[in-house]
Amino acid sequence: MLNKILDIFYNKTGICFTEKQDIVFQKIENFSRNRNFSSFHTFLQEIEKGGELWQDLVNFLTVNETYFFREYRQLELLVEFAAQKNRFSILCLPCSSGEEVYTIAIMLEKLGLYGRIDKLIGIDINSVVVEKAISGSYGKKSFHKTSEDIKNRFFTEKDGHLEVKKEIKSKCQFYSDNIFDEKIFKYGKFDFVLSRNMLIYFDKNSRERASSIFFDVLKDDGKLFLGHADILGGHSNLKKKLVNSVIYYER
Ligand SMILES: C[S@@+](CC[C@H](N)C(=O)[O-])C[C@H]1O[C@@H](n2cnc3c(N)ncnc32)[C@H](O)[C@@H]1O
Repeated sequence: MLNKILDIFYNKTGICFTEKQDIVFQKIENFSRNRNFSSFHTFLQEIEKGGELWQDLVNFLTVNETYFFREYRQLELLVEFAAQKNRFSILCLPCSSGEEVYTIAIMLEKLGLYGRIDKLIGIDINSVVVEKAISGSYGKKSFHKTSEDIKNRFFTEKDGHLEVKKEIKSKCQFYSDNIFDEKIFKYGKFDFVLSRNMLIYFDKNSRERASSIFFDVLKDDGKLFLGHADILGGHSNLKKKLVNSVIYYER
């Protein structure tokens, strides 16, 4: 039965738990016990419906580690490419709680390029972290790579947290969606797609599926940036490029 849940989870999200199966089984058992289902079978039936319980399970099992100015050199290159365009669109898939999207917005603002943003969209399957991204309010943990100057310029202090200023927030949009859901295409095509630290939770097959979606959401001359540990699907038509030791992919 637990295997069946992992199969559903894998097919829908691409996330593969083979290496940590025992821990995940334990977590799912606790999750279902806390919700008082009469049997594991009814729990499974409810999960299969894909409603609120499914979303709660996704929120419970996804790993959402992120922080401002993470893997900064890739972002620098992305912004350098953006500077060569009059208008540009950027998709962060996944965005987790939004730090990556706001980091890009801050970098663009610092270079006087904020006004050129056509779309700056963050998408994540976890609805709780997306709500946090929309609120734009963060605790200390998110700032260990952020300078005091940036904190002072682009954040205001509120209830012990730092909140992203309105002028940075205004063009940042966040949505809760699954990369493997058709709905992903409603956001249009992008000049730049950033997908960092999600493919590391996928197996080969899910990485292939994701790579084909990256291809489809990129404009003809679009560029894709992955995290250092992420591997693109082997059959991808995207071309690998290297600039100043930073890898990116071109459509
Ligand atoms: C470790 S975070 C990475 C966040 C950010 N890109 C970074 O590098 O700091 C990985 C995120 O991938 C999201 N994720 C996993 N599977 C997904 C899917 N199928 N569709 C959309 N987001 C997904 C998780 O919810 C999680 O927030």
